[in-house]
Amino acid sequence: MTPDQRTAYIDRLPKAELHLHIEGSLEPEMLFALAQRNHVDIPFASVEDIRNAYNFSNLQDFLDIYYQGMAVLLKAQDFYDLTWAYLERAHDDHVRHVEIFFDPQGHTERGVPFADVITGISDALADGEKQWGITSRLILCFLRHLDEAAAQATLDEALPYLDRIAGVGLDSSEMGHPPSKFANVFARAQLLGLKLVAHAGEEGPPEYVHEALDVLHVDRIDHGNRAMEDSALVTRLAGEGMTLTVCPLSNLKLCVIGDIADSPVKQMLDSGLKATVNSDDPAYFGGYVNANFHAIASALDLSREQLRTLARNSFTGSFLPPDQIAHLLAEIDHYDAHFAG
Ligand code: HPA
Ligand code: ZN
Repeated sequence: MTPDQRTAYIDRLPKAELHLHIEGSLEPEMLFALAQRNHVDIPFASVEDIRNAYNFSNLQDFLDIYYQGMAVLLKAQDFYDLTWAYLERAHDDHVRHVEIFFDPQGHTERGVPFADVITGISDALADGEKQWGITSRLILCFLRHLDEAAAQATLDEALPYLDRIAGVGLDSSEMGHPPSKFANVFARAQLLGLKLVAHAGEEGPPEYVHEALDVLHVDRIDHGNRAMEDSALVTRLAGEGMTLTVCPLSNLKLCVIGDIADSPVKQMLDSGLKATVNSDDPAYFGGYVNANFHAIASALDLSREQLRTLARNSFTGSFLPPDQIAHLLAEIDHYDAHFAG
């Protein structure tokens, strides 16, 4: 395939996005507009000013700005508008299914009712499915810099809404907050029938990936970059068919990698790992899912077969039922068979 053909192949390739923080899709334009609509003071004079602040040297640098940005989200309608704007972008990128993280503690801490957060997001997801056929799952993330009691209290608040929540995850500052800190709340979530995921190995050591598997019993690992430092762990992850949700542009912006060519995606595929490509916090990191595909496709010279594998992994690694996965895999095969190039 020529580079142009590869770009065209990615653009319309049916895919799922499995690692997306809905609050991280808050574009500077919407942040600015919501600040005005809700009369919230922000330390930025213009959209340009906001964009200029998006330079990070590590995860914590980003998180400080990310939590600051959330302050403009106050009403259910704000969460609806945010989610709808993301779905429009996802639809443009031929995303057929999304599994979305949300950070309720970032909102309830500010006095926003849990009900308003979940209602706004889930109403938009339902409307997105009606409008475009994009299916979805919602994953409640616990903020790992807070204690386990706070996570338990958040799970308590979620109980009336479990029909809208597919799973729980673990995000925010990784170093010093190992997965084992949340062993009890994850065990409880599992008993409630929820799926389990955790960010591990973004900045944290391979040991945190081991803990996510052995202590939390996760169904997926978010990021997982540093697992590549531990060959026994790589063998284990490959053997278990564990899905890794890798986020190339996020890794670059947060200095997890020094250059996009250092993205581990190709090496993961070559090692038999079930890698997927995702956007993490696209408003902050410079691109939605197709931009992430484009960036690594050229930097790593990915083949058509590898791109197809990444798309297949996004569906087989999802929490959809087997019949829907089979249907989406058939959609990829149909697309691939009819793609001229
Ligand atoms: N890592 C950890 N926490 C996060 C991230 C991330 O990439 N994005 C939003 N919260
Ligand atoms: Zn993330």
